[in-house]
Formats: sequence, structure tokens, C-alpha cells
Amino acid sequence: MYVCLCTGATSQTVCDLVARGASTSKEVAAACGAGADCGRCRRTLRAIIASARQLDTSAAR
Ligand code: FES
Repeated sequence: MYVCLCTGATSQTVCDLVARGASTSKEVAAACGAGADCGRCRRTLRAIIASARQLDTSAAR
């Protein structure tokens, strides 16, 4: 699913970045550009980061 229409970044791209250590929308923007243009996708980026981290935490238990 496209998350950022400005860059064409998908939720998979963002999940991969979070898996590689990105933990803020700024870090995601620096890595792939999503959120760095109009900024409309930042809320979605933060939600994806939060749920990916939650999955990480529950997988570690
Ligand atoms: S939709 Fe992501 S920066 Fe515009």
C-alpha cells in the first residue's frame, strides 16, 4: 500500500526501514524521502512505526 504519494513509498518500504532501525518519521524521511515533501503522510508513518515497534516488542517476549 502506498503511504507517501509524493515519493511513492509503500508501507513495506517503511516497515523495512523500521526493521533496520528507523524509529522516527524524520529517520524514515532521511532514508527514503517519505514525509519530507508535503508532510501529509507523517501521521501514517508514525502509526506504522508504532505498530512495527509493538510487533517487535511482542516478538521478543
Ligand atoms: S504524501 Fe508523503 S510527503 Fe507528501
